[in-house]
Amino acid sequence: MTNPPDVPALLAGRHRILVTGGAGFIGGAVVRRLLSESEALVFNLDKCGYASDLTSIEALPQAEARHQLLKVDLTDAAATAAAVQQADPDLVLHLAAESHVDRSIEGPGAFIESNVSGTFHLLQAVRAHWEELPSERRDPLRLHHISTDEVFGSLGPTGRSLAARHISAARFTRQPAAECDGGLIVIALGAQPLRTRPGPAFGGP
Ligand SMILES: NC(=O)c1ccc[n+]([C@@H]2O[C@H](COP(=O)([O-])OP(=O)(O)OC[C@H]3O[C@@H](n4cnc5c(N)ncnc54)[C@H](O)[C@@H]3O)[C@@H](O)[C@H]2O)c1
Repeated sequence: MTNPPDVPALLAGRHRILVTGGAGFIGGAVVRRLLSESEALVFNLDKCGYASDLTSIEALPQAEARHQLLKVDLTDAAATAAAVQQADPDLVLHLAAESHVDRSIEGPGAFIESNVSGTFHLLQAVRAHWEELPSERRDPLRLHHISTDEVFGSLGPTGRSLAARHISAARFTRQPAAECDGGLIVIALGAQPLRTRPGPAFGGP
């Protein structure tokens, strides 16, 4: 197995990192690596709902000086804009999402509000932030939307996605629309959108 990439090399000089969903399972792991393996300041925007747990982050000695929780719900556009202003980020890692498929069947509204409207509010806030930056900070600014392979639906027998043809109603409520919003706005700004759509992960913090 190859070694994981070096975090400072990945950050390439970016120091102020805004992580959304950093109290969740995957976002929490990202925050812990940023704190343990870099000198970055980490602003953790999370509404701190039922899926959140900050215990393992707060146990890190680095957390006191370099981790700041911004308890904000992305469905609140004004609070999101204020949080982005406060974080003043060089890099935004967007992991906040309603992520549990079963819940998307029982209550899809919360998924639309967080994953679609919430992503839209974040993008608008980051765009406003980007417009205010001096040119030397504009170019390196990145927004990375970490999504899920489930936006493609089930894998077929060859391991390739069956894509929209077999996409389930439950999965449709999750993130495709958020991705479209994000991609279009980022492209409109003249930047390359970055998206990661990983498969399921296992284990705990
Ligand atoms: N867990 C996995 O195995 C896995 C695999 C592939 C992709 N992903 C993707 O990674 C991302 C994160 O997954 P996870 O497992 O960490 O999810 P999670 O449910 O454990 O955590 C999500 C976090 O986002 C926060 N959040 C949700 N809506 C919010 C809102 N409106 N405002 C602010 N915060 C909000 C929650 O409070 C929670 O802390 C998701 O997009 C998910 O689809 C996860």
